[in-house]
Amino acid sequence: MIINPPQEIDNFFVKDYQKLYNAALDYPEYFWENIAKELYWFKPWRKVLDWQYPYARWFVGAETNIVYNALDRHLKTPTKNKTALIWEGQDGLVRTFTYFELNEAVSRFANALKSLGIRKGDRVAIYLPRVPEQIISMLACAKIGAIHTVIYSGFSIEAVKNRLIDEQAKIVITTNGYYFRDKLINTKNTIDEAVKEVQTVQNIIVVKRLNIETNMVAGRDLWFDEVCHKADNICSTEIMDSNDPLFILYTSGTTGKPKGIIHGHGGYMVGVYITLKWVFNLQPDDIYWCTADPGWITGHSYIVYSPLINGVTSFFYEGPPDFPDPGRWWSLIEKYKITKYYTTPTAIRSLMRYGDEIPNKYDLSSLKILGSVGEPINPEAWLWFYKIIGKEKCPVMDTWWQTETGMHIITPFPSTPLKPGSASKPFPGIIADIVDEKGQSVSPNTQGYLVIKNCWPAMFLDVYNNPQRYKELYWEKIPNVYFTGDSAKIDEEGYFWIIGRNDDVLKVSGYRFGSAELESALVAHPAVAEAAVIGKPDELKGESIKAFVILKIGVTPTDNLKKELREQMRKLIGPIATPDEIEFVNSLPKTRSGKIMRRVLKAQELGQPLGDTSTLES
Ligand code: WT7
Repeated sequence: MIINPPQEIDNFFVKDYQKLYNAALDYPEYFWENIAKELYWFKPWRKVLDWQYPYARWFVGAETNIVYNALDRHLKTPTKNKTALIWEGQDGLVRTFTYFELNEAVSRFANALKSLGIRKGDRVAIYLPRVPEQIISMLACAKIGAIHTVIYSGFSIEAVKNRLIDEQAKIVITTNGYYFRDKLINTKNTIDEAVKEVQTVQNIIVVKRLNIETNMVAGRDLWFDEVCHKADNICSTEIMDSNDPLFILYTSGTTGKPKGIIHGHGGYMVGVYITLKWVFNLQPDDIYWCTADPGWITGHSYIVYSPLINGVTSFFYEGPPDFPDPGRWWSLIEKYKITKYYTTPTAIRSLMRYGDEIPNKYDLSSLKILGSVGEPINPEAWLWFYKIIGKEKCPVMDTWWQTETGMHIITPFPSTPLKPGSASKPFPGIIADIVDEKGQSVSPNTQGYLVIKNCWPAMFLDVYNNPQRYKELYWEKIPNVYFTGDSAKIDEEGYFWIIGRNDDVLKVSGYRFGSAELESALVAHPAVAEAAVIGKPDELKGESIKAFVILKIGVTPTDNLKKELREQMRKLIGPIATPDEIEFVNSLPKTRSGKIMRRVLKAQELGQPLGDTSTLES
C-alpha cells in the first residue's frame, strides 16, 4: 500500500529525496558542512570530520554553544518576541515564554548554578516532570558548559541513585511533587532517599510545583524560585569546543547497568537542527507539539534543542493522553491549533481503543504533519492515525532513531510516498544497510541486522566512564560499522521495515529496558534465587514484560509473593518496569557455561522453533 504525498509538495524543504540523497552520498562532508554554516559558531572548524575508529569527531577545532543557537542568536531577530514555549499543566495552569523571556529565565538559573559553584564540565542531574523548569534547567546547564543528565521522573530510588553515582552529580534539581493522573508523586522524597548514598551531591534545588509541605534540609536544599530571584538576568554563554560534552543520558543495553550516552555541542546541534526542520517541514507559523518527555532522547533533541534552534513555537504538556478523559490530548490540539504533532505508537494505540467518536468531537483541522517514534508502529495504528487524526491530509513521519544516534536516521519526508509500517529510507548523508552476522548485505525482504556504515554529526561521543563498552557494544559486533541492535528488512523499493531489537533489550510502551537490569531488581528480593526476563508481543504496549523466577529452596510460591515482586520492581526501577506476568519455574534454559538463553525461553513461550540449541545445557 502506498499513501501519496499531499499536494503542497512545492512548499516542502525536501522535494526530491533521491536527488538530495545522491548528492549527499557523493560529498557527505560538503553536505553537512553547508548545513552547519546555517548556524552560529564562535570559531569555524579546521576539519569537518575526523574518523578514527571507533570515534568520530565532527567540526574539529570549531567553537560554539548549542544554547547560543537555541536562544542568544534569536535575540537579534524578530524571533526575540515570538512565543518559544506554551506550557500547560495537567491541572490546566498555563505559562508561556517568548524567546526573550526564556533566555532571561535560563540566564538567571545559569547564574544561580554558577553561584553554587557549578563550572564547565560539572554534572547536574535534572529529576523533574514536564514543567518549564525542566527545559530551563537543561538550557542553563548547557549555557555555562555544565553537563546535564535528565533522569525520567517516573524512575524510583534505585534507578535514580545508580545514575547519580555513575555521573557523580554535584547538584540535583527536582520538584516538591506533582500529580500524575490523580496520584501525588513525591519526587523530593525519592531524591532524599536516593542521595543518602551519593557523596557528591552538594545541593538539591526544588521547584515548587505544588503547595504541599516539603522537607527542606537547611544548607543543602534550596527553592528554585528563590535562587533565581537572587540571580542576575544576564549571563554570557560559555564558548565550547564542538566536541565538548553537552549531556549524558542513561539508556539500557544488553548487559549490566544502564550506560551513560554522551552527546556533544557541535555535531549534535547540526544533526538535530536539520532533521526536524526537514522531516516536519518547520514553518515560522507552526505550533509544534512533541508529546515525549525530556527524560528521554526524543525530548532532548525534539522538544528542547531542535525546536528552539529552529525558532518555532512549541507546546509542552505535563499530563498523559487520557486524563481526566481520553479526549484530553485532542482537546489540546484544538485549543492551541497544533500544526505539527509528534507522538508514540503506544499513545496512538491506547487512544485508538476508545473509538473514533472521541477524536471526532474535536476540531483537528489545524494539523499538517504527524509523527511517530520510539517503537515499530503497526499498519493498523498508522492508518488510524492517518485517517482519523490527520483526516487523510497529513503525512505520517515514522522516524527511526536511538538515544545513541541523537537524531533521525531512517525517516520519510512529507514528500515521500509512504508505506504504513515502514520508516522509509535513510536521511541524506547516512548509509544504512541490513547485513548478516558476517557483515554481508542480505537480499531484499530478508531479515538481518540494521547497521549504519558511515558517520553522522549527532552520533554519540562515548559511553560515560566506559570506552570499552562503547567499542564492544557498538563497533565490534560487525567490525567498522555501527551496530544498532535492531533487526529489519529492506523491500525491493529500498524501504526499511524495522522488526525490533535483536538483543536482550525490551521496548515496553517505547521505554527501553535491558533484561539484565530487570532481572537484577528481581534477584535483589530475598526469596529469589534466579530470574530471567523476556519481552512478549503486546497489542497495546508493543512488548510486555514476562519474568521467570526460580525461588530459593524452601520458599513457597504464592500469589502474594508475585505481588511482592511486582512491588519490588516498581520500587527499585519504577512503575514502568512492572512485570505483566511472573511465572515460578524450577529451571531455566542455560548454556553449558551457565548463561541464561533468553532467546530459547522466548521461543518456548511463544511456541516458536527453538533455533540453534547446540550450546544448550542438557
Ligand atoms: C530503539 C531506540 C528514538 C527515540 C526514542 C527511543 C526503537 C525507535 C522506532 C521506529 C521502530 C523504533 C528501536 C531503537 N525505535 N524508533 N520509528 N520504528 N522502532 O530511543 O530509547 O534509545 O530506543 O527504539 O528498537 O533501537 P531509545
